[in-house]
Amino acid sequence: MRYFFAAYFLVVVLVVSLLGFRGGLSRKPPVFIFPDMDRQPKLRPEKPDAFFPDGMGSRLPVPGTIARGAPYEDSPVNTGKNQDGSFVEANPLPITAQRMARGQERYQVNCAPCHGAVGDGKGITSKYGLGPIANLHDERIIRQTDGEIFNTITHGSKAGLMLPYGAQVTITDRWAIIAYVRALQLSRYGSVAEVPAELRSTLK
Ligand code: HEC
Repeated sequence: MRYFFAAYFLVVVLVVSLLGFRGGLSRKPPVFIFPDMDRQPKLRPEKPDAFFPDGMGSRLPVPGTIARGAPYEDSPVNTGKNQDGSFVEANPLPITAQRMARGQERYQVNCAPCHGAVGDGKGITSKYGLGPIANLHDERIIRQTDGEIFNTITHGSKAGLMLPYGAQVTITDRWAIIAYVRALQLSRYGSVAEVPAELRSTLK
């Protein structure tokens, strides 16, 4: 037993002297018992690498790929804004009967609870005390460009009373909703002259 303690003591001294007390500065790399993930065979930015023919570790994006951020932000369809930051004047997507139907359906899901089925701001939430909800037939909103309304849907209203709906409503659906909102506005402010001649007799 005595030899065991003596040997044990020696081993402890040996281990501590080799691995312990490394507070002092040393040029030698530390002994790694558990390297964890300190050394990884990965490419660091701007480091050379022999794997690629041009010897550079940093790669350019593959043609046709879309980097997160930049090209997406640059497109007026995605942001409702032109390159110079001004709002897109008119809906950039073709307005088809199909898109209009989609816009109506999405409007009824995402907007009507507050803005009301006809856009007058008297949706069900107004009866439970949410207010003041914008009346989409306000001249101020009729005069807004499509891009500005797109911006309101994406980021919420400037005054902040309407929260952003960018996460719930896809980009194409936003433009579809805008087409439908324009139709709602026209239904109030359109003139008889704008109705096709053959349909005028059906007006009440
Ligand atoms: C939870 C209720 C709510 C929902 C849902 C909602 N809105 Fe609004 N919206 C408001 C309120 C409240 C205002 C007034 C905001 C203000 O003055 O800050 C407003 C304002 C607006 C405005 C005018 C912004 C301006 O420039 O003053 C537009 C346009 C608009 N909403 C469109 C929409 C569309 C399109 C949808 C559906 C995608 C929608 N809203 C969904 C509550 C809502």
